[in-house]
Amino acid sequence: MTDYDFIIRNVSIFDGSGSQPADGDVAVAGDRIAAVGDVGQGGAHDTIEANGLALAPGFIDAHTHDDRALLATDMSAKTSQGVTSVVAGNCGISLSPLVPGAAPPPPLDLIGAREDYAFPTFQSYADQLARDGAAVNAGCLVGHSTLRFSVMDNLDREATGDEIAVMRERLGQSLDAGSIGLSTGLDYAPAAAAPTSEIQALSTVLKPAGAMHATHMRHEGEHIIAAMDEAFTIGRTADVPVVISHFKCSGKKNFGRAEANLAAFEEARLKQPLGLDAYPYAASSTVLKPDYVNESLRVLITWSKSHPDQAGRDLDAIAADWGLSRHQAAERLQPAGAVYFAMDEADVRRILAYPHTMIGSDGLPHDAHPHPRLWGSFTRVLGHYAREVGLFSMAEAIRKMTSLPAARFGFKGRGSIAPGKFADLVLFDPATVADAATFEAPSVPSHGIRSVWVNGTTVWDAGRSTGNRPGRLLRRDANN
Ligand code: ZN
Ligand code: CU
Repeated sequence: MTDYDFIIRNVSIFDGSGSQPADGDVAVAGDRIAAVGDVGQGGAHDTIEANGLALAPGFIDAHTHDDRALLATDMSAKTSQGVTSVVAGNCGISLSPLVPGAAPPPPLDLIGAREDYAFPTFQSYADQLARDGAAVNAGCLVGHSTLRFSVMDNLDREATGDEIAVMRERLGQSLDAGSIGLSTGLDYAPAAAAPTSEIQALSTVLKPAGAMHATHMRHEGEHIIAAMDEAFTIGRTADVPVVISHFKCSGKKNFGRAEANLAAFEEARLKQPLGLDAYPYAASSTVLKPDYVNESLRVLITWSKSHPDQAGRDLDAIAADWGLSRHQAAERLQPAGAVYFAMDEADVRRILAYPHTMIGSDGLPHDAHPHPRLWGSFTRVLGHYAREVGLFSMAEAIRKMTSLPAARFGFKGRGSIAPGKFADLVLFDPATVADAATFEAPSVPSHGIRSVWVNGTTVWDAGRSTGNRPGRLLRRDANN
């Protein structure tokens, strides 16, 4: 008699809690973990002898821009690192609800072109996801900038009462259809004119729906403390959890401020539910903003609509070729995207090591020459920061990418290895796991990831995508 679909035998099991691994077997039946430990000699269709390898809950990418990639790709950028769930719709930009009457402005163009914004409601996006499937699971935020662009004729001002009413209605409908909350990107032009009160007015619909708020704050450099206060205030008035996105100290003059900024976060965290995510690199990436370039040590072009041949080149080299200043060259490359080397490694480490920091790649899957965080964040945390640098243990690194984000986002059936949990699993070699993506060659699969399962189905195996699409829409505080 066969009790299980497959058993992974003699594997070192990291359960996601942060405790040290224990040797044993894990049995899977259907989409669930059926037994852990000594599962006996009971039958299974398949047995995987894992001698020397480790098994962890599939990783949860706490911060992504995968809205379109979920539908349009096999998600191998993520599955190749062991990621089995993503949080999409961050930084104020989501693919729905929006059918634009004009080309979407930066940064909405980071996740798709005008024709990709084809979902008038979140329900229509969720329906397409259910119909086509995706390689990984996804929890989806709705973006404030997307809502603004769908409602307002001019984004350079605050929304009127009537416009807020329409945005609230669209947000509420999205939450009813399974979105997990509202994201903002207050540092970006489409949302910069929105006062705190506008977000507070929208946020009142979150609590009744059990939803949350994630924010790319108004400032990430000199005025970060004021920006954190704004985020905390919004969380308190809406009475919902807040996640601060890609926590960093940006700009040369802010190097060394991680300790003080984390202390401010910790003080607030004791009074209200807060989370934060970070990616393991001292360089950021977004649209090319001419006013960002002088705060950076180096700028690398990731895409350019007007000069596609310049993707992958340094802005300084382009400026030299053209006989222009950095700023002038950045203007000529528009619309474009860039990597900014504008963080201090010691700050990055301090933020990564903070116990409440989740790992979020913030990868940009549609860039021609993306930041390597898209393909390498999770394996870099495991290989570089845990094993090589010793910033934390492998077990602690895994906790930051499994049980911690599952708790923050309310993905109740995910993030740990235990009977009854969904079979999102990653089988890897802890001695060799490492990122391979670099700033020069960014789209390269990691080393040491053997097999990855989503809901009991393999999505990555022996160095390649299986093409399976077992991923589901994850609702908040639901066992799904
Ligand atoms: Zn952002
Ligand atoms: Cu982002």
